[in-house]
Amino acid sequence: MCGIVGFIGSQQAYPILIKGLKRLEYRGYDSAGVAMIENQQFNQYKCKGKVADLESLVKGKDVDGTVGIGHTRWATHGVPNDVNAHPHLSGDGQLALIHNGIIENYATLKEALIEDGHVFKSDTDTEVLVHFIEDIMAKTGSDLFEAVRVALCEVVGAYAIVVMDRRFPDRLVCAKKSSPLVIGIGTEGDYFIASDATPFIEYTKNVVYLEDEEVALIDRHSGLKIVTIQNQQKDPYIQELEMKLEAIEKGGYDSFMLKEIHEQPRSIYDSIRGRLNLNHGMLKMSGIDRHEEIWMNANRIIIVACGTSWHAGLVAEYLFEEFARIPTEVEYASEFRYRDPIIQPGDIVIAISQSGETADTLAAIELAKDKGAFIFGVCNVVGSTISRATHSGAYTHAGPEIGVASTKAFTAQVAVLYLIALSVADKRGTITKERLHRLMAELTSIPDKVEEVLKTNAQVETIAEIYKNHRNALYLGRGYSFPVALEGALKLKEISYIHAEGYPAAEMKHGPIALIDEEMPVFVIATQGHSYEKVVSNIQEVKARKGKIIAIVTAGDKTVSELADHSIEIPKTDDSLVPIVSVIPLQLLSYHVAVMRGCNVDQPRNLAKSVTVE
Ligand code: G6P
Repeated sequence: MCGIVGFIGSQQAYPILIKGLKRLEYRGYDSAGVAMIENQQFNQYKCKGKVADLESLVKGKDVDGTVGIGHTRWATHGVPNDVNAHPHLSGDGQLALIHNGIIENYATLKEALIEDGHVFKSDTDTEVLVHFIEDIMAKTGSDLFEAVRVALCEVVGAYAIVVMDRRFPDRLVCAKKSSPLVIGIGTEGDYFIASDATPFIEYTKNVVYLEDEEVALIDRHSGLKIVTIQNQQKDPYIQELEMKLEAIEKGGYDSFMLKEIHEQPRSIYDSIRGRLNLNHGMLKMSGIDRHEEIWMNANRIIIVACGTSWHAGLVAEYLFEEFARIPTEVEYASEFRYRDPIIQPGDIVIAISQSGETADTLAAIELAKDKGAFIFGVCNVVGSTISRATHSGAYTHAGPEIGVASTKAFTAQVAVLYLIALSVADKRGTITKERLHRLMAELTSIPDKVEEVLKTNAQVETIAEIYKNHRNALYLGRGYSFPVALEGALKLKEISYIHAEGYPAAEMKHGPIALIDEEMPVFVIATQGHSYEKVVSNIQEVKARKGKIIAIVTAGDKTVSELADHSIEIPKTDDSLVPIVSVIPLQLLSYHVAVMRGCNVDQPRNLAKSVTVE
């Protein structure tokens, strides 16, 4: 939520800031702003709308300055408008600040500041923070670095901030707690600050991830200095980034989402590469191997996640119970964290998160950790907060996912969770070697099968054309396909704003069946396998009420194809691997429907990719 970027160095800041904001726009896109310092004055511009709107606003204006900050917003306090857009200035106009997160005690701070004569222009918590820092500077005579540190000792909530003082254009100050912030150290005294490393990867691979409650001063002359808010000096730990520029560009596709859907054969392959070798019968998950004892003695697995990652968790529930025979529960992280959950010896908590920054998932982890659970993370973003907060874990290696609606991250999560379930099952002896090798071989063939399914694109587009104006849709599946039904429905509603619901197919008769008439498209995952006949009966029930059936079927299937209005064939695979393959046409369908309805598929309204507020 909210993308922040800062620059200080030998180059003009504005081009770096604006390009950086475009790359961070996945984090929020309801308003944007920049401020640069030139001759001890701010060149500041901000407006409602996307980064492109800011660019139009700024065209032809003075954007000079070799130090500056930029922000793209996902509104929490105050509607998205020009005034609430960041940067926010202090009352005396000397300080400019950008912020990602929520200052929970802003109302109390604001009240005290108003009593002291401060006047606020916006409805944001951020403006309160910059006035608070100004107040401390005025009352104590301290410089910006010290005042930020002191202010943050009083702040309750989450923040990643960058602040500058127009009287001191040689300095930038930044700090973080619960929201990410990374500093890039370039050549020739250039420093970059951003919510993630994408704004500056063509300039430097040397980065410092700021830890919670750390405040950094970047000075053109003396370089980088870090202290904790309790004023302990910290040595900057410089790490090398592995990210490549091509990975965050569209590569000829119209949208990141379409690119990411098509990348799946590769991203699934990358998620299993090096972990599985059929020739040697090797299955190696180092995060599991290092803690073998814990997995051997596990009594229960609790999976915590949000959104699409929660759906991957539901697939994992089936996998862990079927293969490793460990009772598994899947919880919305936001519910888990607030209901005093019972954690017992032998419980393992698996946190799944693409971004590794989701506030609710992070809070669920901290709670479970406090209660003594062993925490295992499944994250995509290397070095993310969640990946650092867990005891062990496995990266999904899907590459950067920019489209707000998750696609390749989901399939990579399921693939990695699959490997984990097989590895644990093997160690616990709950799967035969013969079956293990058969499933390993089948998993290895999945990237090719996904490639095959992508060829249904034109057919899916035709189906999208037929149903693009419907107001509702139902998605049904059983067993491993139930989470896919949920994920299919989520994809449609997220990006095309059509109301859609996912249900276990048999549950339809307990309510949703009342909705079915000739206007209701019903998407059914009806592949051959465990509950095939039962799903065929559910399809009959829909047809009897004149509903329209769009079925995902196993290649060569006759029975469902004859019953359905449309059927999309996918290659045969084991039931347990169907989710990775069957979700692909549903992703494509949502994409086409959204494009046909004129929606912005990469930046759907009201959503953000990385939800760092609860
Ligand atoms: C947001 C995104 C979803 C994502 C969810 C969880 O809502 O729009 O695509 O599934 O957050 O995010 P995470 O990064 O924890 O997987």
